Amino acid sequence: MFEQLETLPPDPILGLSVAFREDPSPAKVDMSVGIYRDRSGRTPVLEAVQAAERALIEDQSTKAYLPPAGSPGFRESIFKLVLGEAAGSLRERTTTIQAPGGCGALRLGAELIQRAAPGATIHLSDPTWPNHGPLMAGAGLRLERYPYYDPTTHSLQAQSMLDGLEAVAPGSVVMLQASCHNPTGVDPDRGQWQAILEVVAHRRLVPFFDIAYQGLGDDLDTDAWSIREAARRVPEMLVAVSCSKNLGLYRERTGALIALGADAGRAKALESQANKAARSMYSMAPSHGALIAERVMADPALSALWRRELAEMASRLRSLREALAAEIEAARPGTDASWLPAQRGMFSLLGLPAEAVTTLREQAHIYMGFDSRVNIAGLSEDKVAEVARLIAPHLA
Ligand SMILES: Cc1ncc(COP(=O)(O)O)c(C=O)c1O
Repeated sequence: MFEQLETLPPDPILGLSVAFREDPSPAKVDMSVGIYRDRSGRTPVLEAVQAAERALIEDQSTKAYLPPAGSPGFRESIFKLVLGEAAGSLRERTTTIQAPGGCGALRLGAELIQRAAPGATIHLSDPTWPNHGPLMAGAGLRLERYPYYDPTTHSLQAQSMLDGLEAVAPGSVVMLQASCHNPTGVDPDRGQWQAILEVVAHRRLVPFFDIAYQGLGDDLDTDAWSIREAARRVPEMLVAVSCSKNLGLYRERTGALIALGADAGRAKALESQANKAARSMYSMAPSHGALIAERVMADPALSALWRRELAEMASRLRSLREALAAEIEAARPGTDASWLPAQRGMFSLLGLPAEAVTTLREQAHIYMGFDSRVNIAGLSEDKVAEVARLIAPHLA
């Protein structure tokens, strides 16, 4: 049987990580992989997470299975974290299911859509995070794209996006990244979100939000605003939540799917279908990361510590954006790099030609995605000026 299987080419982004590790140059800068790094280039375990994990190990008395939808405390905390004040009025119509990371939540959401409307079409932003396609198509959904990013201005193609969504057939699903859009860093402003959600509501589209960077853009509430606004306007919605970046729980595979139905009966149906779908894929989500997240959020001191640590990460990203833009403008007078600090989160698309990406990697030891996506957190404060000087000549 396995004679038929060919070896697939290695993942190009992971290949970049290997090349970076093996690069002996002290000048090397890794802006390729999508993980947060601090000023010393590390991705440390957050202090709040360490404290919660120690306490968990001290007093955990069993490893028996959790309920199918996950730990009740985690489900409640995540629901409130994402929906905020809107949580109270939505509780009846909503279910939150623990999932193995944001990817697990995305796939679980896709499985629910497939159960409700087999072969439904999901519309993804152009461009989007490359794993959205396989996660959705893997469940049997059809993929389409809507206009999103204007590479000449590094900003939202707002009118084209609205026109694109107007043309989408009612009942289709629209994937929307709530904030810190991957890979562009471009988020709609509140007025643009209102216009987008207006079209979503009147075309009777089902929004499927992906929130993987809550708290890394502006703050926890601002970054979830689009979801809360959508919840006021539409009868049905899905939200895939990841705790990988904002709690730094990457390898613990911690996330949740929030599903909103028209009434309490629908919420029950959604929960039972999601449990059944999870059962046939991985039975249930792993508990360790979720129990840590639950403790962090339930304990006022740990929650305050976590919020401070998260605010520091977000603030560092914003200042790196400011610094990079200022240094690019200084290195190449006449260049307007104000789009960099106007964007949010870890990613931006520099818009460099492929040869420039290769030259920067091979000659200047600056690593970025092949599409010139950069992870701003990969910059260290002392290298900003040098990186700007080397990048500036290649910018459009
Ligand atoms: C846009 C987006 N969604 C979801 C995820 C899922 O993350 P994870 O499965 O690691 O929680 C990521 C991770 O990079 C992402 O960038």
